Amino acid sequence: MTHETLDPDDWEAFRTLGHRMLDDMLDHLVSLDERPAWQAMPDHVSASFDEPLPLDPEGAEAAYRAFRDRVLPFSNGNLHPRFWGWVQGNGTPLGMMADMLASGLNPHMAGFNQAPAAVEHQVLRWLTELVGLPPVATGVLTGGGTMANILGLAVARNTGVGYDVRRLGVNPAGHRGAVVYTSSETHSWIEKGVELLGLGSESLRRIPVDPAYRIDVARLTRAITDDRAAGLRPMCIVGSAGTVNTGAIDDLPALADLARKEKLWFHVDGAFGALARLSPSLAPLVEGIERADSVALDLHKWIYLPFEVGAVLVRDAEAHRNTFAVTPAYLAQEARGVAAGGMPFADRGVELTRSFRALKVWMSFKAHGLNQFSRLIEQNVDHARRLAALMAADPAFELLAPVSLNIVCFRLVPAGVDHARLNELNRELLLRIQESGLAVPSGTELAGRFALRVAITNHRSRWEDFVAFLDGTKQIGARLLEESR
Ligand SMILES: Cc1ncc(COP(=O)(O)O)c(C=O)c1O
Repeated sequence: MTHETLDPDDWEAFRTLGHRMLDDMLDHLVSLDERPAWQAMPDHVSASFDEPLPLDPEGAEAAYRAFRDRVLPFSNGNLHPRFWGWVQGNGTPLGMMADMLASGLNPHMAGFNQAPAAVEHQVLRWLTELVGLPPVATGVLTGGGTMANILGLAVARNTGVGYDVRRLGVNPAGHRGAVVYTSSETHSWIEKGVELLGLGSESLRRIPVDPAYRIDVARLTRAITDDRAAGLRPMCIVGSAGTVNTGAIDDLPALADLARKEKLWFHVDGAFGALARLSPSLAPLVEGIERADSVALDLHKWIYLPFEVGAVLVRDAEAHRNTFAVTPAYLAQEARGVAAGGMPFADRGVELTRSFRALKVWMSFKAHGLNQFSRLIEQNVDHARRLAALMAADPAFELLAPVSLNIVCFRLVPAGVDHARLNELNRELLLRIQESGLAVPSGTELAGRFALRVAITNHRSRWEDFVAFLDGTKQIGARLLEESR
């Protein structure tokens, strides 16, 4: 009888290879600032990924060499101290090791009677406390903010449409259309959400924002009244604690009041902003989040953990469970044995098989302590404010939005360049900054103006990085202007 397994034939050789992988990765992390913030893949590297199906073994050594030579140097750059694009965290060395332990142990995280499930329950209790929801709230860790928000919206829908949507499907004949309200600045997960949940994009009211990019509450109130008058069914208000574009924080207490008065579900997208609650000086900015019916947050953003880990928390545990729970006989909870823990996490979201992403949260909270995360968040906000102050004082730059948290939106404004050309110039400036390896900001548009966007969820950035960025940006901008003259 032949026997096949994926365990190594030679455990000692594999151990040596494993240690080398770890050493190489640590070397990479230790030397980040000796390398460009980002570099494009050379053509021969991109072409090398057009390989035939590998039917026969190359061996672990060769597979690892392929990673080391062709993948490791050409990532998107977010490990780097001068990466401030989109809203991405860096990852942490401890988080990386915890992910290895989680994969090594490889527990099935639907639930079950096991210590890993106790770890996730513990993490969720911590997050509930951190956000300020009552201890009876339930949650589940997710692959990120998009999934966390959509799960929250699903509970809002099932609670708010006014009929048994699980049985009948969405908008059966005779029922009034449900409406979701949010600002024009809410992240695009919400389009995916209303479409996936069968509400349709026409059910979404994107309410305009004030000059600080916060939802206009008076217009929101009018929209709800108008929709009721038109026979529709207002269902949910989605507020942002930190919008993706500018970091703006909606007036959460006002939204909570309005939701209560109108009997609507109040969901808060706190993907990164919810974590500001960790800092005593920043927490007042997100006051009102603790009044939400559901909150989404991302630990791979402002807790800097390796991708992916987000969380949704729901105040009403029963509403949460009633949205997702299904219990076929083969998943039934038993009085004793492995299934004694039930499948609580499967019952709070759409995934059944889930990874042990809770481990990196649990170990990181314990190892670093939340006070260190609080200081890091304050450091990021302080850098954003200082960068904005320097730009505000420099006629070469224009700030395009107030800096409420950790995001600075700006453009270069050389004299005598018209509006259309400014957009073109700044877009080119952004690409050249990235391609030069100096830093990775990203771009957006604010009121028709192209903005370079520095979003700081980076535990490696030092003030010197921003000084170098400012100087380098001016130099690249000057060269660009030279060329265009
Ligand atoms: C405010 C906000 N909400 C939601 C998301 C989506 O989160 P994720 O990318 O983790 O799915 C982001 C991502 O940047 C965000 O900034």
